[in-house]
Amino acid sequence: MKIAVAKGDGIGPEIMQAVLRIFEANQVPLQYEMVEMGKWVFDKGFNNGMTPAAKQTIEQLGLLFKGPMETPKGKGVKSINVTARKTWNTYANKRVFTSLHGVDTVFSKAGIPINITIVRENIEDTYGGIEHMLTQDVALCRRFITRPGTMQVMRYAFEMASKKNAKRISCGHKANIMKITDGLFLECFYEVAKEYPHLKADDIIVDDLCMKLVTRPDLFDVVVLPNLQGDIVSDLCAGLVGGLGFAPSANIGDHISIFEAVHGTAPDIAGKNVANPTALLLSGLAMLRHVGLYQHAATIENALRYTLESGVHTGDFGDKNTPAANTTEFADAIIENFGKRPKQGAVDYTGNNKPYQPAAAIDQHPMLESTLQKSEAIVGADLFVQCNQQPSALAALCQQAAGDLFKLIIISNRGTQVWPTGSVYTNLVNQYRVRFESIDGGSLQQADIIALYERVSHLVKVCSVELLHQWGDQKAYSLAQGQ
Ligand code: NAI
Repeated sequence: MKIAVAKGDGIGPEIMQAVLRIFEANQVPLQYEMVEMGKWVFDKGFNNGMTPAAKQTIEQLGLLFKGPMETPKGKGVKSINVTARKTWNTYANKRVFTSLHGVDTVFSKAGIPINITIVRENIEDTYGGIEHMLTQDVALCRRFITRPGTMQVMRYAFEMASKKNAKRISCGHKANIMKITDGLFLECFYEVAKEYPHLKADDIIVDDLCMKLVTRPDLFDVVVLPNLQGDIVSDLCAGLVGGLGFAPSANIGDHISIFEAVHGTAPDIAGKNVANPTALLLSGLAMLRHVGLYQHAATIENALRYTLESGVHTGDFGDKNTPAANTTEFADAIIENFGKRPKQGAVDYTGNNKPYQPAAAIDQHPMLESTLQKSEAIVGADLFVQCNQQPSALAALCQQAAGDLFKLIIISNRGTQVWPTGSVYTNLVNQYRVRFESIDGGSLQQADIIALYERVSHLVKVCSVELLHQWGDQKAYSLAQGQ
């Protein structure tokens, strides 16, 4: 079986070499096709950080094992890591955080075991990077949460939790504030939960989740989160088990999957052969299990755990009174310990031996569209306008522009209602949202909204417009705070 390998930047080549050496010593039956990705590829003029040949190889092989990569600063290019995950629709980012005997933490010293799997949605949320300045003072980021995208990650999370006999699956979210976006994420969670009645499924607001993770991490098993919250919570979990050096990551998609460590290129220690290869090794072991090489994964993981247990450590962790092994020596110690079982946390060969079948090639973009059918009507529009006048003055202008079809409903500033009621103590910025709805609550045409846009634009600058939809009897937009 052939997989694509990108060594990465900074410490990437050192830790990748160590991991591949461990695989070779264990006679892992994989062949590696090295691909060109990373900072140096940006520097050669490839704007997405990979050569066309690399892209072709990865799409053909379906599996990429990658080292960390640096995104050049100040060149207006997007992160190669995020681009790779998004381009190939690796919708579920699985990060397993488990106590490793020999890696001391507050919890290991207190005898509290940790075994938490974070499943982070990997494509959507604010990671679309769709950002605009609406005025010179006001920046806006669009946050996408989609039903089909969320369903993909929920299905993966529940299936994985079920296979690993998880005691609990929790959804972390902020649906109390972001009722529509995180509300949709949560709705999909409970929709898929119905198909897994044997799993205890619950939800928790993300701030409460953070507090509980640092007080009772042993209460959690699988936790699924939107992209940004998942990113933050997974670094928190890395801290619980000893830091980024122990945080592996698998980006799972239907056609292509990417395995990498959570940490970055560690430029401060690059080229010194002192980096800890454990996170990349654990990511590689997740890849071996993904392709059905369970026995190799178990042997190597037991050797790693035995090595840690016996006190061998790199400079970033462990007993400061004993000399640190360098990257090469750490890998050597693991190789010497093949066949040994750690006293704590030994893993057994639990594979189903199903040989890995790469997904068939496709020649068109899959269109993800849900089949929910409800009547759909445009009932108004939110116009985001640039204005530095008082709300009442803006309201007078907008009422002038409303015409026969629209009535002015509210004006808000930074999401807080300032007209028709409000408080003069609400500070204003020079950008308002003005909500118009149809006079009789009836349905409008797009052309009506365009005509309204034009009338308003003669009076104030319109920065952007959002249609207000109604699906059946349900409003498909949020109310302003105080409305
Ligand atoms: P970083 O994770 O590279 O480093 C943070 C700290 O952790 C540093 O002190 C570093 O020495 C230490 N560290 C990280 N990995 C280690 C290891 N294996 N062994 C020992 N110590 C380790 O984060 P930073 O400095 O914010 O980012 C550096 C670069 O990495 C940036 O260009 C960033 O864009 C990139 N990056 C790439 C990622 C990826 O390829 N998936 C993920 C995160 C950052």
